[in-house]
Amino acid sequence: MFGKRTNDPSNLAGTAPKPVAAPASAPAAKVADAPKPAAAPKAQAAPAKAKPVPAPAPEASSSRSHSEEYYDVKTTVFNALIDTIDLTQLSKLDVSAAREEIRDIVSEIIQIKNVVMSIAEQEELLEDICNDVLGYGPLEPLLARDDIADIMVNGASTTYIEVDGKMQTTGVRFADNIQLMNICQRIVSQVGRRVDESSPICDARLPDGSRVNVIAPPLAIDGAALTIRKFKKDRLKLEQLVKFGSITPAGKTLLEIIGRVRCNVLISGGTGSGKTTLLNCLTGPIDHEERIITCEDSAELQLQQPHTVRLETRPPNLEGEGEITMRDLVKNCLRMRPERIIVGEVRGPEAFDLLQAMNTGHDGSMGTLHSNSPREAISRLESMIMMGGFALPVTTIREMIVGSIDVILQASRLRDGSRKITHITEVMGMEGDVVTLQNLLVYEITGEDENGKLIGRHRSTGISRPRFWERAQYYGETNRLAEALAQSEVMDEHGNPMGEHHG
Ligand SMILES: Nc1ncnc2c1ncn2[C@@H]1O[C@H](COP(=O)(O)OP(=O)(O)OP(=O)(O)O)[C@@H](O)[C@H]1O
Ligand SMILES: [Mg+2]
Repeated sequence: MFGKRTNDPSNLAGTAPKPVAAPASAPAAKVADAPKPAAAPKAQAAPAKAKPVPAPAPEASSSRSHSEEYYDVKTTVFNALIDTIDLTQLSKLDVSAAREEIRDIVSEIIQIKNVVMSIAEQEELLEDICNDVLGYGPLEPLLARDDIADIMVNGASTTYIEVDGKMQTTGVRFADNIQLMNICQRIVSQVGRRVDESSPICDARLPDGSRVNVIAPPLAIDGAALTIRKFKKDRLKLEQLVKFGSITPAGKTLLEIIGRVRCNVLISGGTGSGKTTLLNCLTGPIDHEERIITCEDSAELQLQQPHTVRLETRPPNLEGEGEITMRDLVKNCLRMRPERIIVGEVRGPEAFDLLQAMNTGHDGSMGTLHSNSPREAISRLESMIMMGGFALPVTTIREMIVGSIDVILQASRLRDGSRKITHITEVMGMEGDVVTLQNLLVYEITGEDENGKLIGRHRSTGISRPRFWERAQYYGETNRLAEALAQSEVMDEHGNPMGEHHG
């Protein structure tokens, strides 16, 4: 044990918060009979390292709500702890040792102060305080859960989560907006970034790989908005997408073939519809000999292939310099002898470079894009290129799209919260100046059960020879392809296939 603990119990009792690095939100101890601080001289100075800076939080750190009394006790204990502990020493310990240390001191404080608490409550208090000092405070219990897809903090008092495709409120509260900002700052500073009034928008990553976005006041009016896309330790695989009903087994085979035979693929979908997940799944069947380069805003993909180079964009610094855009990355990629280029999200002029890459011998390249249907994906690509300042006639852009993209996959989050792959669509060619598409597999909703769960099915549109048939032949995949398409046929009540040839 270490620290500035003295044997004088008065030093532990209800002392006022010391001005440690993030003191603003620590309210004074509310316990009435708390003696005045014993003005014990501090043996060691305030924290030197930024890491375990406490973000005092006399509020609930879990989704359970507590009584006001609990918060009062927590405030008192927290303040006594901050007064007692040596943060410089603490910062030298690893997390578990630091936790042990804090637990010891807190238990001691509770004893000395004669706090009456059940064992369970005491455990919770210990957890809460450890989380505030060492971790991300009230977010910790949410971060520890593996069933959460997104955490959305809308200011200090409101936090939502997404579980099983459904939005839920939580009881998680921060002490105030200052504590919330301290935690945001702690998160982003770990990747060398900062967030404050002068640079209020920030993307970052948690050490576990979760994607983070912060937008701070004054842009966020009711306190900082923090959004976390939780990293799934076990990324979903195609088999799991089948298990969840996002795609059929035959559809899975189709996707595997599309990835394997080096079709150029665009994954289209709305926010949180499962685009990145699908992209990740699609890279599964890629040969381990291939050289793959990924470009992302925030590295999320987890490729299994050993010969992968991962690139990430960089925002400008405070002086507005040093930005590396997605376009810079994709352009640079071309000089790195890639066999496939994978762009996490296409949202700007890099669309042009990706199409060019797809067109010039980097077959099997992939990217995702925000849009609600395969048709819309084409027009989104078109407008990204036009807005990128390339002085090209629309028809030329369309020809370029047709010459580059082979398949569009549509991911959707349906209104019952389920996620589906709703289209496997081929880009066929041009009719006049219109791009023609052909659906191979579509998901159609046929009804809804009494619980509001949608009922539907995937079915092929009756195409037996997709445009990438020759590619499949080259890779010896025609049998599997024909079989998967045949299995996807759905018969009508007369036993005839319900085909439809146009998308
Ligand atoms: N088919 C699926 N079934 C169930 N959950 C899924 C499915 N696909 C994705 N998810 C989950 O949904 C969440 C969002 O997925 P993902 O990150 O792939 O979406 P996205 O479309 O890339 O989102 P964004 O637009 O924010 O980049 C993740 O937690 C992921 O695990
Ligand atoms: Mg994504």
